[in-house]
Amino acid sequence: MCALAVLCASGYAQQAQSPAGGGGQPAAAGSTMTPVQRADSAPKGTLKNPYKDTDAAVVKAGQQLFQNYACSGCHGGGGGGGMCPAVIDGVWIYGGDDDTLFRLVAYGSQILQSKGYSRQAYENVVAPMPQMGQIVKSDDDLWRLLTFVRSVYHGPPECKFGCKSGGS
Ligand code: HEC
Repeated sequence: MCALAVLCASGYAQQAQSPAGGGGQPAAAGSTMTPVQRADSAPKGTLKNPYKDTDAAVVKAGQQLFQNYACSGCHGGGGGGGMCPAVIDGVWIYGGDDDTLFRLVAYGSQILQSKGYSRQAYENVVAPMPQMGQIVKSDDDLWRLLTFVRSVYHGPPECKFGCKSGGS
């Protein structure tokens, strides 16, 4: 394994345990589940982001959460990668749809794969994504994080939510 991958996998997981949270804001009305509870309760393929990345307030909140939960430590402040893969480039490791991304962040790579999701692509660094669903407080926070990720997307337009052509 290359040194980058080792750094990537080990560097920030501990820091991410600190209770930075979302600055103490309450979750949106009606959201009472943790990301893992939400993912466990929804059939495969049915999770859908309630927010649009044209909603500037949600994007801003998501960007703040990206820092607070230390996603930025691994993925870079703008999501362009650093020690770990970019989240903005249209190369989606397990798929680019809302459902897959939510579960990847909630469960981490290993549990995700144990639930039948398989690797479709490789980025420059290959390492497991930690299970951030134990750290991210609510499904609402996770959707806001993913809304920020959508907002910084720079890849081909047709691949924003997963490429429909090419591959399988
Ligand atoms: C310890 C480093 C680390 C932290 C912290 C981390 N990630 Fe990741 N992330 C990774 C790695 C490594 C991968 C690639 C996983 C794989 O190949 O199985 C990844 C993959 C992803 C992907 C999919 C990228 C793609 O191209 O398909 C998204 C989206 C993502 N992470 C979002 C987040 C968010 C949001 C947070 C914060 C809640 C976060 N990550 C925290 C290391 C990290």
